[in-house]
Amino acid sequence: NTVAEASINSARNIVNASYKIFKQELAANCPDTAVGFPNTAYFLPVIYGILGIQVEKLSDMEAVFDKCFKMLPPPEVKAEEITELGAVLEAGLATLFAEEMLEALRYLSQPEYYTNTEDPTPDNIWLGAADDIILRKRGVEFVDGTAPGFAAIIGAAPDNATAESIAAELQQKNLYTFMCGESQGKRFASQLADAGVELGWTPRLVSFGDEPTAAIFAFGFAVRVALSFGNVEPGNRAKLFEYSQERIKAFVMPLGDISDEWYANAAGALNFGFPIIADKSVLPILPGVDTVDSVLAGIPYDRIVSKAMDVRGIKVNITKVPVPVAYGPAYEGERVRGEQIYLECGGGRTQMVELVTTAGMDDVTDGKIELFGQDIANVPEGSRLPLAIVVEAAGHKMNEDYEPILERQIHHLLNYAQGVMHIGQRDIAWLRVSKGAAAKGFSLKHIGSILHAKLHQDFGGIVDKIQIKLYTTPEKVAEISGQSKKIYAKRDERIEGMTDENTETFYSCTLCQSFAPSHVCIVSPERTGLCGAYNWMDCRASNEINNLGPNQPVNKGAVIDAKLGQWSGINQFVEKTSGGVVSHYNLYSIIHDPMTTCGCCECIAAILPLCNGVMTVNREYAGMTPCGMKFTTLAGTIGGGITTPGFLGHSKYNITQRKFISAEDGLLRLVWMPKSLKDEIRERFNARAAELGIPDLLERIADESVGTTEEEILPFLEAKQHPALTLEPLI
Ligand code: SF4
Ligand code: NI
Ligand code: NI
Repeated sequence: NTVAEASINSARNIVNASYKIFKQELAANCPDTAVGFPNTAYFLPVIYGILGIQVEKLSDMEAVFDKCFKMLPPPEVKAEEITELGAVLEAGLATLFAEEMLEALRYLSQPEYYTNTEDPTPDNIWLGAADDIILRKRGVEFVDGTAPGFAAIIGAAPDNATAESIAAELQQKNLYTFMCGESQGKRFASQLADAGVELGWTPRLVSFGDEPTAAIFAFGFAVRVALSFGNVEPGNRAKLFEYSQERIKAFVMPLGDISDEWYANAAGALNFGFPIIADKSVLPILPGVDTVDSVLAGIPYDRIVSKAMDVRGIKVNITKVPVPVAYGPAYEGERVRGEQIYLECGGGRTQMVELVTTAGMDDVTDGKIELFGQDIANVPEGSRLPLAIVVEAAGHKMNEDYEPILERQIHHLLNYAQGVMHIGQRDIAWLRVSKGAAAKGFSLKHIGSILHAKLHQDFGGIVDKIQIKLYTTPEKVAEISGQSKKIYAKRDERIEGMTDENTETFYSCTLCQSFAPSHVCIVSPERTGLCGAYNWMDCRASNEINNLGPNQPVNKGAVIDAKLGQWSGINQFVEKTSGGVVSHYNLYSIIHDPMTTCGCCECIAAILPLCNGVMTVNREYAGMTPCGMKFTTLAGTIGGGITTPGFLGHSKYNITQRKFISAEDGLLRLVWMPKSLKDEIRERFNARAAELGIPDLLERIADESVGTTEEEILPFLEAKQHPALTLEPLI
């Protein structure tokens, strides 16, 4: 018995079985019935990519089955007589086409079979085909190197612990793991789920499907990467395989007992240039040919990942971050939810602040990390502590302009740690540490270890020495928060005097795409990033440090609408960087195609139709607001990186910038905001109100002491003769 024999026999079986199901569906449905995978422009991608055929209707499959039958050796030729590798490879492709149609037929008859979500749902771990949004967000990582490649695992490990350790190793190397099929009733993804490992695209452990045919979703993903990022034309098979061989660093890892069905799939994979690395022994390839370079078998579990990476030529450059939990981009989007929390800091419940300052070379001891106050180990599960993170950076090139950029890194650098979740920035930061991380010995001092290691690694050109001080006593945190407010104000003011009209180049910020994949902030002199952490100057400085980074200069281009704030150059940029999800937006409007919002915004504005005005609420205000939603609900509703007319995320500073919702008359529309926010921005607000000719505007704006419904605040606005009431109707 050989691979050739097993795979050709099996390819015949799969094609025949799939054809039979096709015939049944054809008998039960109209031939024009639409078939395909959800939300994709690539039809059945493997068929489309390799053959150039667009399967849209059930009847379109007939032509593909014709091809499949022709690709198999003629029925009279016995499988054991095959001596050509080429025949095996062709049969492998026919297998893939048949499987892809089989899965599409499954979507037709059982649309709910897969979750079709990015991450599993509580009662189903099988995700099914990745849609184009996932493709754009994740596919680009294969191109820019954020993800060095993927492992396609079919079958199962001998036990849960082995599965867990293989998956952890792949995660640590930043690889994606695509999983499908079973071995003796066990499935790799189920083994991980049983061991309590989180699955989904977010942790890069993608549970495609329980059957071996779900392997097609991994191939479909690779094909679409080649079509969308590699500019391969559909149907150009040679170019497609060249691209996947050279650019998509993937390998196939069959675990457990290998079925004939699996050999047929493996033959398909070899076309793509994906090597096969198996734990068990495999059959000789052809009569007289024991093995080929791209097939390795009998590899022990503790070496299988590194072996596969060597064979596929995947190099990972990770500087080890000295923390007791796993660390890497795979953990960035991970959430730490209610019952998993060991320690929580900030988030409105306690004070939390982060600050990066420049210090002299002699004043910094590189790598010194000090904690003043209690640590995780001294407090019981479910505790809350205030927290201040103070980073002092020194270097010949370090200066104040770079402080906000380094400071903003804290967000994703802490999120890279497994079991650590970070939201927000500046003095509205929010941190959660999970029970799992606490059990592994994660200490607040490790925040310092992470920042020290990573800031050196990523900003080595600027910083030479870094020391970190962490504080968890309320007095000290309050004191640092007071100091930092002054520093933030100074940073914000550096753009005073600049106008959007006189500035040709704005900057983008895409730092938040890990959480809100289609979100792009456009930062102009008069519109600071909605997190409040990046203004135009900061983006420029960040671009100086890394001109390939998340802050790119964007030429405004031609004016499309000066009042709404729309330009052709901005639109083009946003369309491209949102992965095509957002084609255009306006910088100055809350009603007409407003800018997208992500979860980091400091405030959210919403229209109040009855009052003919707009309200805004800051993250720290936990109460009800007149739009009927609290801040958290608002953020959950609109923070996903899409445009939501009537709602807008913005920074506190932006409220007093001249372009704040200027298309809807700006500050004159503002009818409600929390009292604490009024107090915080009072000085600048009054200056701006005076400019508008209504110096006492702030006193005419309602807050929670007046009411938290539109009906409650309207009489107040009338009594105060709020200017919004005489403006033209908002909607
Ligand atoms: Fe950048 Fe906008 Fe996120 Fe701030 S909110 S970090 S400006 S993308
Ligand atoms: Ni963010
Ligand atoms: Ni964000």
